[in-house]
Amino acid sequence: MQTLITNYSRKQVKIYLEDGLISRLTAFLNPNLRYFIITDERVASLYLDTVINQLPNFDLYLLPSGESSKNLEEVNRIINYMLLADIQKNDYLLALGGGVIGDVTAFVAAIYKRGINYLSVPTTLISQVDSCLGGKCGVDFSVGTYLYKNQIGTIYHPEMILVDPQVLNTLPRSEFTSGLSEVIKYGICFSPSLLEKITQPELLSEVIYACLSIKAGITERDEFDQGERMTLNYGHTIGHALESYSRFTLSHGQAVAIGMYYETKQPDLRTLLANLYQKIGINMDFSLPMAEIVDFIKKDKKTNQALITVPVLTKLGKVSIKTINLDDFCRGIK
Ligand SMILES: NC(=O)c1ccc[n+]([C@@H]2O[C@H](COP(=O)([O-])OP(=O)(O)OC[C@H]3O[C@@H](n4cnc5c(N)ncnc54)[C@H](O)[C@@H]3O)[C@@H](O)[C@H]2O)c1
Repeated sequence: MQTLITNYSRKQVKIYLEDGLISRLTAFLNPNLRYFIITDERVASLYLDTVINQLPNFDLYLLPSGESSKNLEEVNRIINYMLLADIQKNDYLLALGGGVIGDVTAFVAAIYKRGINYLSVPTTLISQVDSCLGGKCGVDFSVGTYLYKNQIGTIYHPEMILVDPQVLNTLPRSEFTSGLSEVIKYGICFSPSLLEKITQPELLSEVIYACLSIKAGITERDEFDQGERMTLNYGHTIGHALESYSRFTLSHGQAVAIGMYYETKQPDLRTLLANLYQKIGINMDFSLPMAEIVDFIKKDKKTNQALITVPVLTKLGKVSIKTINLDDFCRGIK
């Protein structure tokens, strides 16, 4: 078993990673505690029995699968249900699912009775390599016809993260590929050797652990997103705009992959990305009006009129935060 301990200002987060861990949760859970499981319909159909068979005392809330569940209305319904189920301050939430379940559960945990404990059992590649750690959580928010990503939220850490790479065997190929784009982000920005390992399935656990280790270091040094942590958003400025503008017909991973490509200005690094995408099957085809995407980016939370503060790839494996002219940032977007 691989273990990673991350020390934040107010909490220590323990991460355990091992194949088959989902069948051995009793080693990590307290039989005297009550767990409130939040999961989605697809994950429940695959893994809920395995989890609840190990829990003597649990309640359950099921969300529809996918990004459409990441909103305040759903948070409202969950809290309503928790109050009716009499969930107490010393009970635990258990997030069983991908990034959507993780983000929603952590947000509910942060605000319910001013904060209760939660555990995370991430079940998608995106959630295992990235979203389960660092505590960022929240929901999307609609204003008129625009749906803004992650506009409501906070930073709130779990007590423990239990990662079982074997559950990725049931992940549809498109979802797995989507997760690989976050791995590419870690590779291109921080650790180029990861890019060679991506196509080797036998190295999956090693790749997940490497990504989590990178994220642990960055989020420990900059827990509250004041500087270095913003480097983790590489590709996400354009990516989030594409995702929101498409009303989530583009997956998070595909949007980030396209975002990384256009945020990368060096021709050789763009070629590197394009070749990798082709090798692992990330689709670069999309038909969105880029002029409107650029307009959308101007409304994004990271912009300040003519200037934008973004992570900039200075060379392979090196990214830094810069405030640049928005027109330069958008240069080369087709
Ligand atoms: N908090 C953060 O730091 C952070 C970082 C990156 C992404 N995110 C967020 O994560 C979300 C995307 O995450 P995601 O791609 O995991 O989305 P998701 O949670 O919607 O999962 C994608 C799909 O996979 C299904 N699924 C999950 N596990 C499965 C399994 N083991 N087998 C079969 N199907 C399974 C789900 O039911 C869902 O339909 C976005 O909302 C994004 O904003 C958050």
